[in-house]
Amino acid sequence: MRLAIVIMAAGKGTRLKSKRPKVLHEIGGKALLRHVIASASQIVPPQDIFVVIGHEAAHVEAAAKDTGVKFVHQAEQRGTGHAIQAAQAAVQGYDSLLVLSGDVPLLKPETIARLRDFHFEQRAAMTILTAAPADPTGYGRVIRKRPDSPEVAAIVEQKALTPGQQSVREINSGIYAFQTSPLFAHIHELTTKNAHGEYYLTDLAALLGKAGERVVAIEAPQSTEVLGANTIAEMMDLDRELRMETARKLMAQGVTILRPDTVVIDSSVEVGADTVIEPFVQLLGKTTIGEDCRVRSYSVIEDSTLADRVLVRQGCVIANSRIEHGALIGPFSHLRPESEIGEGAHVGNFVETKKAKLGKGSKANHLTYLGDAEIGSETNVGAGVITCNYDGVHKHRTLIGNGVFVGSDSTLVAPLTIGNGAYIAAGSCITEDVPDNALALGRTRQTTKEGWASSKKREHDAHKD
Ligand code: UD1
Ligand code: MG
Repeated sequence: MRLAIVIMAAGKGTRLKSKRPKVLHEIGGKALLRHVIASASQIVPPQDIFVVIGHEAAHVEAAAKDTGVKFVHQAEQRGTGHAIQAAQAAVQGYDSLLVLSGDVPLLKPETIARLRDFHFEQRAAMTILTAAPADPTGYGRVIRKRPDSPEVAAIVEQKALTPGQQSVREINSGIYAFQTSPLFAHIHELTTKNAHGEYYLTDLAALLGKAGERVVAIEAPQSTEVLGANTIAEMMDLDRELRMETARKLMAQGVTILRPDTVVIDSSVEVGADTVIEPFVQLLGKTTIGEDCRVRSYSVIEDSTLADRVLVRQGCVIANSRIEHGALIGPFSHLRPESEIGEGAHVGNFVETKKAKLGKGSKANHLTYLGDAEIGSETNVGAGVITCNYDGVHKHRTLIGNGVFVGSDSTLVAPLTIGNGAYIAAGSCITEDVPDNALALGRTRQTTKEGWASSKKREHDAHKD
């Protein structure tokens, strides 16, 4: 018994009014199609998954290629029935097919397994996964032969519902199981005589029934799982659903999320117990946060790792960075890629770092740019210090040792090395290396002219007369 999964993903998604193909729109930080592939891969190996692509095929293929699935081309998109016709040659040799829709992303592997098992138990030619959501508008409706029977007479699309069928609440999820031989024996009987002039896969329910084949339905345990995303608004409903599920999972693991309806957390994010996430925080991509941390409001953290007891104050932007135990960040710090903030280090307001390492206990608390820099431990970087890392053509590195005091408003012109224990006088422009324990001054000496202002005033007053 060989089983394949076909994922229909060739459509344009006209109702989205978007240049991007529908299945590449994201919910929970991941493309719809990748959600569906992830669930399908729990049921069969990727080499038995066939994704039907058409609209922006190259783009869609590139976005899912690394999953190891196979691709089938549907050059013209003439409906869901036509999509399965396009897959016919590719799935020869499989006895059964599970058909999933690329725009139904919340479907759980357990539900696919239930559909598969029910399909085999029932010895059906076609099994339809259904649901009864509060608002069935827009979906095809499943017309059972009798209310209490698993057997289905037909699927009727929204636009074709007769007045008597308007009250049917059971919807077609667009997810099916088929026995391959009756499917392909009858799929060419589909016609385009309908509101959209397309080959509807749904018409197979009635066609197979008429041919004496068994067509049954099974209801999904939760209707939210099979909701489709045809418009941006529907997609954002699913996004909310998915992110709330992630937030609930984290809270069950001991994370406090204040106002979870306001945070945006990707499902790939991990957070340790006793960490507090304040309202309006975004945690994205491959972000890992340790225990006993606090991320205050309006901070956005992407692809970054925070160890334990880290405090990120309000309004920080952190990407592709690593922050060690007990560090203090913000408010309003910008940690750009490859920033490494050491244990107990402080990065304060309006400080920007990029490819910068700040050692254990070091501080850069105010108005500073540290780019292509490596700073040792227990070093103090004063307010307004700038590493001048770019000469207009190349980037250069600044190396600062341990226990260094960099006076405020200094510019450090790279390439530059400042030795351990050195002092840089405030307001210096440092262009040459500074040895260990030296004091470097790179500024003009102050001149004070006693009484200068009073004589200037006298001169001015004399001119007025
Ligand atoms: C479809 C069902 C409807 C069901 C709903 C559930 C049909 C005729 N209707 O409607 O009964 O309630 O799903 O979400 O099937 N696709 C292709 N090639 C095509 C056309 C579509 O691959 O030529 C793909 C789309 O990319 C999409 C999926 O098939 O991923 C479903 O197509 P869509 O146009 O969204 O169908 P619905 O109108 O939602
Ligand atoms: Mg749809």
